[in-house]
Amino acid sequence: MAGPTLALYRRYRPESFADVIGQEHVTDPLRQALRTGRVNHAYLFSGPRGCGKTTSARILARCLNCAGPDGTAQGPTDTPCGVCPSCVELARGGPGSLDVVEIDAASHGGVDDARELRERATFAPARDRYKVFVVDEAHMVSPQGFNALLKLVEEPPEHVMFVFATTEPDKVLGTIRSRTHHYPFHLVPPEALLRYLETLCEAEGVPVGKGVLPLVVRAGGGSVRDSLSVLDQLIAGADDGGVDYERAISLLGYTHASLLDDVVDALAAGDGGSVFRVVDRVVESGHDPRRFVEDLLERLRDLVVVRAVGEGARAVLRAVPDDQLTRMRRQADSLGAAELSRAADVANAALTEMVGATSPRLHLELLCARLLLPVADAGERGLGARLDRLERRLGVPATGPAGVRLAPAPAA
Ligand SMILES: Nc1ncnc2c1ncn2[C@@H]1O[C@H](COP(=O)(O)OP(=O)(O)OP(=O)(O)O)[C@@H](O)[C@H]1O
Ligand SMILES: [Mg+2]
Ligand SMILES: [Zn+2]
Repeated sequence: MAGPTLALYRRYRPESFADVIGQEHVTDPLRQALRTGRVNHAYLFSGPRGCGKTTSARILARCLNCAGPDGTAQGPTDTPCGVCPSCVELARGGPGSLDVVEIDAASHGGVDDARELRERATFAPARDRYKVFVVDEAHMVSPQGFNALLKLVEEPPEHVMFVFATTEPDKVLGTIRSRTHHYPFHLVPPEALLRYLETLCEAEGVPVGKGVLPLVVRAGGGSVRDSLSVLDQLIAGADDGGVDYERAISLLGYTHASLLDDVVDALAAGDGGSVFRVVDRVVESGHDPRRFVEDLLERLRDLVVVRAVGEGARAVLRAVPDDQLTRMRRQADSLGAAELSRAADVANAALTEMVGATSPRLHLELLCARLLLPVADAGERGLGARLDRLERRLGVPATGPAGVRLAPAPAA
């Protein structure tokens, strides 16, 4: 039997800046600095979990010490050659280099560890250009630890480089932080993540059903590592046909798009019976009502967008498959802008009420009742929704792309 396979996020850990996705605001200026030889002695990489800090710290170390394919490079590069001894040692799965010291401050953040580091920094590099210290999880360095490092970071020997990586830059001693060039990493935008996952599935030769990757992106919440872990799990449970939507939905606990279609269609038609039948299906199939309302709210938001931007919706909702978008266009038109916006407000309020509620099903049913009854809402939104409905019945075309018609234009 084959042993456990290495996790996707480890097999695909980028080895050069060009492969790091969604962080161009960081990698572009860093590469520029490397190309032009304007390197600093200390860097601080901050940002949310799993978006490339440790990976980039290692890449930076690789760039700093690359000797070039013929071993004659005079200075750092923005693209590690991949073949010199340093590059090979620092590659994925490589043994690591004597001149690049990675310290996990979560377990080695004490004052003794800092003193030891200080000691090691006094020695010249064993072979390469720099002695690079990657201090990972730098917020875990103790205050005494930071103080022990202070002098070294303030006046480092020519050959010493620091890269601090942390999710909490505020916990890095200010006097140290101000000696660094600070590069804040961000969550990776859905679009970039989606494209990345697509190329990865292709490389893995795994067929993935329509609509699956957007779910993965959503579940990953902008963290590349989390997204890859979710994808890994889906791939692990896939049969020869690949990863299909039904399985992904039930594993990740999201509401099936068809349930959302059904409830929105029923709302648009004012068909209470169908709305409550969907509620039944949600509960019977073991869905969490709260999750359902969350997903419904997200759908309503998408519909608001579709309604507001019209033809441009394709560009905004890139992760939505074509046939789904067509259905959503129809839904947005039949509900109308005012009703959509009111429904989103009502769903949002219900979601807040559902926190810790003992009977989430009851709250879901009450929500549906309110959604079905714009009349119950005497405010401007309720009126707008009723007007929308009347106009639809009379076949009056919408007045503007967003259906805004309550406020008359001020006289010029
Ligand atoms: N920007 C990115 N581009 C491509 N892959 C990435 C990116 N960010 C993270 N990954 C993937 O996720 C894995 C973990 O990334 P990394 O260790 O760099 O995260 P981190 O920012 O240091 O997170 P943490 O705060 O949890 O330490 C990498 O091995 C890689 O596969
Ligand atoms: Mg890290
Ligand atoms: Zn090299």
